Amino acid sequence: MENFEQILLAGHTHEKAITLAEKLLKKLPQDFKKVFYSDNGSTAVETALKMALQYWHNKGESKKRILAFRNGYHGETFGAMSVSGLEAQKTPFLSHLFKADFIQPPLKGRVDAVNKSVQDLKNEIEKGKDIAAFIYEPMIQGAGGMLVHEAQGLNELIKICKENGILCIADEVMTGFGRTGKLFGSDHMEEKPHIICLAKGLTGGTLPLAVTACTQELYEAFLSEDKNKALLHGHSYSGNALGCASAIANLELLDRPETINQIENIENLNRQFKEKIEKSHHYLKTVQEVRHQGTVIAIELKTNEKSGYFNQAAKKIGQYFLKENILIRPLGNVIYLVPPYSSPTDEIKCTFKCIEDFLETL
Ligand SMILES: Cc1ncc(COP(=O)(O)O)c(C=O)c1O
Repeated sequence: MENFEQILLAGHTHEKAITLAEKLLKKLPQDFKKVFYSDNGSTAVETALKMALQYWHNKGESKKRILAFRNGYHGETFGAMSVSGLEAQKTPFLSHLFKADFIQPPLKGRVDAVNKSVQDLKNEIEKGKDIAAFIYEPMIQGAGGMLVHEAQGLNELIKICKENGILCIADEVMTGFGRTGKLFGSDHMEEKPHIICLAKGLTGGTLPLAVTACTQELYEAFLSEDKNKALLHGHSYSGNALGCASAIANLELLDRPETINQIENIENLNRQFKEKIEKSHHYLKTVQEVRHQGTVIAIELKTNEKSGYFNQAAKKIGQYFLKENILIRPLGNVIYLVPPYSSPTDEIKCTFKCIEDFLETL
């Protein structure tokens, strides 16, 4: 801040943007070579979609279709909404969104869902060779209800996409930086994406910053003396210097043994809590499913209504926890916790206790 707070990143660069890119590229789950900066998760996704579509345009190939998961969520802007699979979010804007095709996600512990996702993908591929990209939240679909994936199933989907010339976009806005128990959700799979979107955890919640990274092969399709081939996209705050500085500091914190221990600790606490709830005497009556992956845990309640964001249980849950001085935001009937890694163990346990007490009131 003492040096300068902001500089236009179009045609210029600065030390923090370069340092962050270099540090980040070493950590990413694939041989990514280029980093594109923006300022939130939705813009990171927009950039990824534009990169993928323009890649094929620049190569003179007519590939325009985008595939995504049902119940997926990718942000609030029009492109991100188009590829999101949450219908209610999109209804008022349907006539203005581009068409995307949706497939079943490979839900954990559900052999039927894993098989169906592979079949759905194969069906889409059979419809034509015009699929430009497949976008997915690796391992956990967040806003869709904290739905956990079977890593092998997802790996199979990415493999099939790659064999069929479909670009894979991992939206790691929520799953990045340790959330799934590994540094990135994509680290659970052998098959890696061509493009990755990062935001939220990038700066550890201090300042808004986002990244869309891609491989050298992708980048080269834009490299030309002809300006029409360039990715003509950018934001006022692309690569904001303060944001980059905070992300560099955050990456250093993430490397510390204390942080790695704490991620493991939260993961273990979640595992134990899941087992405890599943053994409790009112589990069958009150709980549909407990889902856990890394530092994320979600408890889906049984109710008389359809599961999902509009389920009325949200109000009751929110009010109950607020009275206990705990601010949570359920996704309808799904109570979930995505705690900061700095959360002390007793705070996490206290929140678990509150969930147990709440279940007893049902
Ligand atoms: C997977 C995923 N993608 C994109 C977004 C959008 O990010 P933002 O809210 O920063 O625009 C979110 C936000 O929750 C998300 O979870």
